[in-house]
Parts: sequence; C-alpha cells; structure tokens
Amino acid sequence: MTSRTSLPLCGIGLFLVIALALAVLKAPPDGLERGQLSQFLGRFHPLVVHLPIGLVLLVAALECAGFFRNRKHLQASASFVLTLAAFTALIAVFLGWLLARSGGYEGRLVTRHMWGGVSLAAALILCCAVRESNVKLYGTALFATVCLMAWTSDQGGKLTHGEGFLTEFMPAKLRAVLGVPPPEKRHTPTTNQVGISLVSASTPGNVSVTFFASRVAPIFQDKCVQCHGAQKKKGKLRLDTFENVMRGGKDGVIVKPGDPSGSEVFRRITLPRDNKDAMPAEGKPGPTEAEIKVIEMWIALGASQSLAAEEVRGAPPLAPPMTASPPLTADYRPRSDKIQALQSELGVLLVPRSQNPTDGLILRTVSVRERCDDAALVKLAPIASLIVDAELARTKVTDGGLKTLSTFSNLRSLDLSHTAITSVGVRLLSRLDKLETLNLTATGVDDTGVALLRHKARLKRLYLFETKCTVQSELQTEKQKR
Ligand code: HEC
Repeated sequence: MTSRTSLPLCGIGLFLVIALALAVLKAPPDGLERGQLSQFLGRFHPLVVHLPIGLVLLVAALECAGFFRNRKHLQASASFVLTLAAFTALIAVFLGWLLARSGGYEGRLVTRHMWGGVSLAAALILCCAVRESNVKLYGTALFATVCLMAWTSDQGGKLTHGEGFLTEFMPAKLRAVLGVPPPEKRHTPTTNQVGISLVSASTPGNVSVTFFASRVAPIFQDKCVQCHGAQKKKGKLRLDTFENVMRGGKDGVIVKPGDPSGSEVFRRITLPRDNKDAMPAEGKPGPTEAEIKVIEMWIALGASQSLAAEEVRGAPPLAPPMTASPPLTADYRPRSDKIQALQSELGVLLVPRSQNPTDGLILRTVSVRERCDDAALVKLAPIASLIVDAELARTKVTDGGLKTLSTFSNLRSLDLSHTAITSVGVRLLSRLDKLETLNLTATGVDDTGVALLRHKARLKRLYLFETKCTVQSELQTEKQKR
C-alpha cells in the first residue's frame, strides 16, 4: 500500500462539500433567472459532469483488477484516480448549482439531482479517507458510491431529456420483466403535446374539442413552455397545463376570467416588444396578432377549461396548413425517355432543380458550348416548358435562337453572357413573364434591347456589364434593389 490520499486533502474536500451543501440549502434553485456569468459557467456542468462519472467507474475497474494476480499492480493507481474523481465531482456539483440557481430551474427532479450530486461528492471523499485504513468499509462505500452515481446521473438525464427517456423505446417483454409501466403515447389524437385532453370532459357522450385545449394551449406550448414548463419555471410560472396556467406565478394569478386587460398574461404579451417585461422574454418570437386575439377571447369568455371550441364565434381562423409551393412546371418524370434522348443527342445536361419532380429542369451546356446553337434549342422545344433555368453562356446561340427561347415559357433564369446576341433578339425575351434573372454581360445588346425588359415586374436581376447600354448601372442597381 503506497499512494495514500493525505488526510489534510480529505479535510479540504470535506470542507468544500459542506460549503456546497450550505449553498444549496441557503440558495436553492427557485425558478428565477440570475447573473449571466453564473449561467455561462453553469452551462459547463453537463460537460464537466462526465469526468467524475468516468473516473468513478475507472476506480471500480482498477480495484477489481486487484482480484487478478497478474493485474494487481493496477490497483495502486486507484487511489490517485479516486482523488481526481472526488475533485472533479466537487467542481461538477459547484457548476451544477450555478446552473440550477441562475438558470431558472426548480422542482423535485432538479432538487433530487442536486442532493444526489452533493452526496456523491461526500461519498467520494469518504472513500478517499477510508481506502487505506478500512478495506471492508471502503469496498462497501465504493459500491454504494457507484449506485448513488447511477441514480444521480439518471435524475440528471431525466432533467435534460425528460422522464421516461431511457425507457420510452424499451421492448414490451423487458418492460414486463422489469415492471416498467407502458410508455405514454406520444401523439395520440385526443391529446396535444402538452398532454392536455383535447376533449371536453364535462360533456360525456357528446365529446367536443375545447377552445382552451385546441386553441389556447398550443400557443403556450409553442411560445412559452420552453421557459414556463416542468424543467424551467421562470417567474415560478408554468404554462403547460390548465391548472398551472390558472395557478399563476411568483406575483400571483395571471388570468382574471372575464377581464383580459386586467390579466397579467395578456398585459405581458401585448407590451411593446422592447419592454423588459414583454413576453416571451429574451427576444423570442412573440405571439401573432391572431394568437393574442385567441388568448384575449379565451379570457373574455371566462377563461374556461371546458368551453367547446365550436361555441366560440369569431375566433381568428387557424393558420391554413402549410401548402406546398405551387409546382413550377409539370412533373418531368413521364418525359424521362425524351430527356435522356436529348441529353445524348445534344451533349447537354438536363438536371432536375430539386428532388421535387415539379420544380423543373436546369439546362447545362458547359461541356458542349461549341455544339450548342440555335438548332439545338429548336430540338429542346418539345420539353421547353420543363426548363426553368437555361445556362447558355459562351454558346453559339444567336438572335435566331432567342426566338425559340422566347417560347420557353417557364424560364426564370437565363444566362446569355458572352454570346453573339443583340437587341433584336433580346426584345423577344420580354414575352417571358416568369423571368427573374437575365445575364446579358458581354453581348451586343444596347438600350433599345432592354427598354422593354426594364418594365417587367418579375425581373429582379439584369446584368449588363460590358455592353453598349448607357443605362446599365442605373438599371442594375434599381433592379437589384427590388
Ligand atoms: C425565454 C424565456 C421566456 C419565454 C419564452 C417566456 N417567458 Fe414569461 N417569463 C420569463 C422570465 C425570466 C420571467 C420572470 C421575470 C419577469 O417577471 O419578467 C417571466 C415571467 C412571466 C410572467 C410573470 C409571472 C409572475 O407571476 O410574475 C408571465 C405572466 C409570463 N412570463 C408569461 C409568459 C407567456 C404568456 C409566454 C409565452 C407567450 C412567456 N412568458 C414566454 C421568461 C420567459
């Protein structure tokens, strides 16, 4: 037995643990947010906490190595690792306390987790102190410490990931063996994310969706619960269930049924966004006008839990479900054979613009600029309506080809830079109503060619560098600003 953890070191450790325990007792996490520096430091807790976890397991492994004759020498380092584990545990507990105290945490889970951490640090110091003197006590203490650590980490995991995180996807058979209750259904149609029943309980047999659950709770869930929920209860307020909403926060009730303007919750969400009391805090996206209206109506109608949604007249309509953007072109897939044939015949590439088959094709000519001429464009005419972007820079296209291009009615972007085209051809392009970007750099275009294009509302970018246009700079800036 060589490396002894010196007793004075244990003494210091004990002193620190007691100091931490007093800090936790005197200044428990109370759901209020405090100093920025302490929050900054505190957020390193989840990172640092893995050090003692790893080290404690290493201590256990090293001690177990002592059971094997040819590995006995490893046991000697256990003492050093143990000291390190105790030291890092103290740091982790300190950071954890900073995080919990200043980050707006509160509640059973965080309290348990914190006392778990303090006890763990104390247990590790005890292990250090008795390791050399009392082998039996040490063995028991180390075993208990590992168990305590497992429990504490589990509490911490639940804090971050929510209770039931580990067991959510546990196979049903294992569940039965271990006696773990079945998981809560995540997306049942009759409850929303908050677990609030969407169905009014007060009208048995005649189930209807309540206004609170279907319209009000989703707003709180979306905009407020990240700070006013089970894990964070800023202002001692939770907005995750009807009861909690009605219970209110540190300054008492926030909802006065029938009196929106007298209700703190309504005042907070209608304050100017730069007011320090405005909610959601910290510049988080605020409720929309429709959402504010919904909350106002709900309070005005008595802040009821059971009022059916259909009984509320004049509530703002729910936002229409996200509609996919309208297709740019027809689906190209039925024409795949034709597209293939054209690609091999002309050497051009016809690339889908996105995974969405109705987003159109990009015409690429980079490797066949010399071959790409007016005749090639004529050949592309059968699939012209599928092309939304034509890259024709430095090709052999002339004014004759622009006549063909002017029938490519879905074109949004067209690059004709460094080609032989002139104003005669470009004037035809004013027929392309969807055109947004047109690059005419280093072409023979002059003012007469772009006069008509300038008034096309859709056209956002028109490039006229190295042309004879006198208006070019004015036009480019003016167009680009839109
Ligand atoms: C980014 C975090 C955050 C978000 C999001 C947030 N709040 Fe708060 N809220 C706070 C903090 C911090 C306090 C305590 C300080 C204070 O009273 O201003 C608080 C306090 C409150 C209070 C006062 C409680 C009392 O009793 O004093 C109300 C009411 C409130 N919030 C409503 C809301 C509503 C409604 C939303 C959603 C629309 C929301 N909050 C979203 C952080 C937040």
